[in-house]
Amino acid sequence: MTIMVTGGSGFIGSNFVIEWLGKYNETIINLDKLTYAGNPENLVSLKKNPSHIFSQEDIANTSAVDKLLKEYNPRFIVNFAAESHVDRSIHFPENFIQTNIVGTFQLLDSTRSYWNNLGDEEKNNLRFLHVSTDEVYGSLELNDPAFTETHRYKPNSPYSASKAASDHLVRAYYKTYGFPVLTTNCSNNYGPFQFPEKLIPLIINNALTDKEIPIYGDGQQIRDWLYVIDHCSAIRRVLEAGQVGEMYNIGGYNEMTNLEVVNTICSILDELRPRVGGDSYKSQIKFVKDRLGHDKRYAINASKIEKNLNWRPSETFKTGIKKTIKWYLDHQDWVTNITNRDYRTWVAKNYT
Ligand code: NAD
Ligand code: DAU
Repeated sequence: MTIMVTGGSGFIGSNFVIEWLGKYNETIINLDKLTYAGNPENLVSLKKNPSHIFSQEDIANTSAVDKLLKEYNPRFIVNFAAESHVDRSIHFPENFIQTNIVGTFQLLDSTRSYWNNLGDEEKNNLRFLHVSTDEVYGSLELNDPAFTETHRYKPNSPYSASKAASDHLVRAYYKTYGFPVLTTNCSNNYGPFQFPEKLIPLIINNALTDKEIPIYGDGQQIRDWLYVIDHCSAIRRVLEAGQVGEMYNIGGYNEMTNLEVVNTICSILDELRPRVGGDSYKSQIKFVKDRLGHDKRYAINASKIEKNLNWRPSETFKTGIKKTIKWYLDHQDWVTNITNRDYRTWVAKNYT
């Protein structure tokens, strides 16, 4: 048996691929375009593992996708591939429309044709799991109840609007064609292999390289943080037992303001790798111009996946963030290799 993932060389996808191959004796086909966010180094530990088959392709390339589906006959398709960074979507929205909307549509169409031609048993067992985000629901006020799966879609950034459009296409393929889809809407992830344009690896990297730690606006925006390995276990659980056509919210029960996150990381770094001169890393914090249309708060009500599928995260923010910081301290070469010229051009564009 095989499964296929898209975007398996990015942050969450590579954690998922490594976890999957560590647990099951089942081949994974990893289709990834290798944009700036896709990094083959994330999967070096699998270099000699014949159960990881990599194909550098675009999800929108239907003939390449059709060929892979025909050749490897996967029972699950997990779609991680996306343009995923909100700030980049503000500067360069077009790539988000192409990959997140057009690409998801092409992938859905290829996989639906493949599914149509399967025998009855394989047809019944196939699942297409679309990895989406809590950002499609928009922004909450402080006292609003957390997002449930029936919360109205109200995306605010080009990124979240493109993800919302892809979720609608996925739903439409179920409603119209009976195509066996599952959608997961997850909160903010953190952990190993996250590209340092996102808040948590950015803080760690800037702290350690003696740069300013930029906090947008007043730092009072709230996110619900989930350790990436918990996200991977939730996806496996939904693949295994999720009801076709349903959406599942996934969250970490860890709502924090950005300022709290930054202060926590600085305090842990002060303990693990004290700053030369003895000052706290907090002295590097700088409040900078706010993100355009910055969503105030995301919060996930994960009671559906907890009640129906018996899933809960196993890490708290306290345990997960310590593991993450230690991982970054132990993998400074990985960080150096990824913060190349393109990354520096991005930082210059976003922060000046
Ligand atoms: P990422 O940016 O780290 O990785 C995306 C991967 O997709 C990269 O390997 C990239 O090369 C690949 N890719 C991009 N365009 C492609 C295309 N056209 N064809 C094939 N591959 C392509 O993203 P991530 O943080 O790992 O997020 C993975 C998925 O999870 C995304 O769909 C994102 O919307 C969703 N998500 C992310 C978070 C989070 O906090 N990071 C939370 C909830 C949901
Ligand atoms: O909620 C899930 C989403 O989480 C995913 O769908 C996205 O793919 C993922 O990128 C993430 O989006 P955010 O915009 O919430 O993540 P980011 O790490 O970019 O920012 C987290 C918060 O930190 C946000 O409120 C903006 C703030 N921030 C971010 C950066 C990069 C800063 O204050 N300073 C910064 O330099």
